Amino acid sequence: MSFFPTQADAKEGHRLLQARSLVRHFKVRAQRTLLGGSATLTAVNDVSFDIHAGQTLGLVGESGCGKSTTARLTLGLTPVTSGDILFDGMAVTGRRNAQWRELRRHMQMVYQDPLGVLDKRLPVLNQVLEPLDIFAAGDRRERREQACAMLSRVGLSQALWHRYPHELSGGQRQRVVLARALILRPRLLVCDEPISALDVSIQAQVINLLQDLQQEHRLGMLFISHDLKVVRQICDEVAVMYLGRIVEQGKPQDLFASPAHPYTQALVSAIPTVQRGRNHQRILLEGDPPNPINLPSGCAFHPRCPMATAACRELTPALQDLPGGRKVACLNSGTISLKS
Ligand SMILES: Nc1ncnc2c1ncn2[C@@H]1O[C@H](COP(=O)(O)OP(=O)(O)OP(=O)(O)O)[C@@H](O)[C@H]1O
Ligand SMILES: [Mg+2]
Repeated sequence: MSFFPTQADAKEGHRLLQARSLVRHFKVRAQRTLLGGSATLTAVNDVSFDIHAGQTLGLVGESGCGKSTTARLTLGLTPVTSGDILFDGMAVTGRRNAQWRELRRHMQMVYQDPLGVLDKRLPVLNQVLEPLDIFAAGDRRERREQACAMLSRVGLSQALWHRYPHELSGGQRQRVVLARALILRPRLLVCDEPISALDVSIQAQVINLLQDLQQEHRLGMLFISHDLKVVRQICDEVAVMYLGRIVEQGKPQDLFASPAHPYTQALVSAIPTVQRGRNHQRILLEGDPPNPINLPSGCAFHPRCPMATAACRELTPALQDLPGGRKVACLNSGTISLKS
């Protein structure tokens, strides 16, 4: 029997979360002005996506492109500058009112650094009990049974339940974080680089565990990672971000086999594979990513793009549908031919 009760509304394909035209600006201290002053940094720029029950949307892109900010906006942990987030058709606001707390129960986050999330002064079992105590789910004995069952489910042996976080390995700590995130039986899990602090063999165990739990619970997942091989393996859909915008989105098997956007082409060319052999050319992007405080005109990728034309300096391309369910934001997308 599954640990999780089945939920009628967790049917495969049910649209759990809709993010529409999300924008997030941050006020930052302006550089190079004697008087100080402030400038506006655009971290997330007109981002829209859906997450379905039982499915995983991957979010990839280089450091600073806005992945974590998108994750935090999705859960209402950071308020949007503009745009809408609907969970089961209900607005998720940045306001910490009773409705937000109830929604948050169904939406949990797993971060990269388990030590930063866990309470150093509490043994493992108490950390997993805590969310149940806060929501006063069942009596004390039932809550304890549930916490013990969840710790077993994530593969932590009983001998470890009374240890403190610093007495565990990185992989064991990430299992505690998963148990704590899943104990309230959320329907959406946002994973922000959940495996990047773990060594390779532990990474594989945590990924398998995540996939098993997703299968059992029909969890919708937003999965952020720099590891494109893992993203290709576990995601149903992948969105590629560049400087706050989604520049390409599609099924991983299509997107990785024939990337359409020049930025995705560079990202994919950097994935090491055995099959590619010695003649494989890695596409090296020239220059640093532009400053998000002072975005380039037109397409933000044009200063580094090998295909850029004069029009790319003027016009901002919208995300457009290509055949086969792919979306791409590139003015040259008309000239792109996708391998079938
Ligand atoms: N609270 C904040 N105040 C000011 N700027 C911020 C804040 N949070 C994020 N930023 C800026 O927003 C941009 C996007 O940051 P974000 O953390 O979302 O990137 P990321 O894609 O998660 O990067 P990484 O892969 O390194 O984790 C960056 O330029 C970052 O410096
Ligand atoms: Mg991040």
